[in-house]
Amino acid sequence: MKKIAVVGTGYVGLVTGVGLSHIGHEVTCLDIDPVKIDLLQKGRSPIYEESLEPMIQENQKQKRLSFTSEYEDIQDAEIVLIAVGTPQQQDGSANLTYIFQAAERIAKTINHDVTVVVKSTVPVGTCQRLRNYIQDRTPFSIRMVSNPEFLREGNALKDLFEGDRIVIGSGNPEATQQVMEMYSPFDIPMMTTDLASAELIKYASNAFLATKISFINEISSICEKVGANVEAVAKGMGMDRRIGSSFLQAGIGYGGSCFPKDTKALVQMAGNVEHQFDLLESVIHVNNKQQNKLVDQMKERCGSLVGKRITILGLAFKPGTDDLREAPSLVIIDRLLREGALITAYDPAAMPRAKELFPAVTFASNVKEALMGAELAAIVTEWEEIKELPLSHYEESMEEAILFDGRNCYSLEEVMEHNMEYYSVGRPAIG
Ligand code: UGA
Repeated sequence: MKKIAVVGTGYVGLVTGVGLSHIGHEVTCLDIDPVKIDLLQKGRSPIYEESLEPMIQENQKQKRLSFTSEYEDIQDAEIVLIAVGTPQQQDGSANLTYIFQAAERIAKTINHDVTVVVKSTVPVGTCQRLRNYIQDRTPFSIRMVSNPEFLREGNALKDLFEGDRIVIGSGNPEATQQVMEMYSPFDIPMMTTDLASAELIKYASNAFLATKISFINEISSICEKVGANVEAVAKGMGMDRRIGSSFLQAGIGYGGSCFPKDTKALVQMAGNVEHQFDLLESVIHVNNKQQNKLVDQMKERCGSLVGKRITILGLAFKPGTDDLREAPSLVIIDRLLREGALITAYDPAAMPRAKELFPAVTFASNVKEALMGAELAAIVTEWEEIKELPLSHYEESMEEAILFDGRNCYSLEEVMEHNMEYYSVGRPAIG
């Protein structure tokens, strides 16, 4: 079992650190935010992820997992994982300030040869730069590995323990071996490659998934025009194993902290080597269009939205998380407010943050309360409790049931049994 340090206890760092301790490694997670560390030391998780908190507590009890904000506490680590954020800058490129700050502190702290594993998503070439940067500041030997993560929010522990692959990029066979040993208790195929290819695998994977989503969203717009049903089209396409059925769910566009950021960063990276990534630029453009579509549909239906009482169901960028970063709901609410609508919203997890962002919105404490007296309703995030709401609730609570379903939560057959107007994505309107 190895002595491992994880720098950065954001989403990726925390889940990875906890998971590695769970398979028996001795893990110290470090973060410069003392408030977060204090919380973690008490066995509390600063993020919402199923089963994470009990797993933190269990491994703390076994003395395999500890939290610190002092670099001195990680000086004995054999492997240091870097998992700090690489937020997006104005021009779409990744901000590498935090990663180089962490590198500098690691260089000053370590007292022996060490393997540094970069889990943060960084532009191609960064790991090599980082290796040189640390090496210039320490007499000890630095072995660098790029090991991108493929965790989905809300599914992160499952993805860690049962992922499709582990990518290990390094020019150093000893470091590759060490990282393979670290992950060996997981029953997941590993692939080894060079640093730059590993870095690019991450961007290419996210960009490809985003492309699938924008593609099916474009098809959904054609479906609406020709009277086809996008769900049938996606099912028929997905039965071809070369295409695959996942990520063909038409909706109101992708959001979150990864796809929007990584697609823009890849376009930017391509530009830096004088390649115009036309396809990916279109993917981004289509997504922006898609995020606005629901409001366009409402305007088409009602004309002016001034003074309209509109209920938004679901705010998080997807179910199972309280994350609002780049969520389509932000674009939708912002635009509706500018159109003069009166908004009531409900989300099972994301309301505390949403309240800070939108003081002009009324927040309800449950779905039924949110729908009371609404003139229009829109489903923005497909939480179970929203998907499973009987359609009769719309009929009973609203003056006249008019629902814009941005996530195709109901079957058209079901809707037809009710007295309501129903607009969804890539399927015929009803009512
Ligand atoms: C994504 C990737 O799926 C992970 O593999 C990757 O590790 C992660 O980014 C990252 O780079 O860290 P995540 O952002 O958590 O994970 O969310 P996804 O479940 O992939 O969903 C992203 C967005 O796409 C959501 O807004 C979702 O509603 C949307 N989506 C997804 C669709 O509109 N249609 C689909 O068919 C699938």
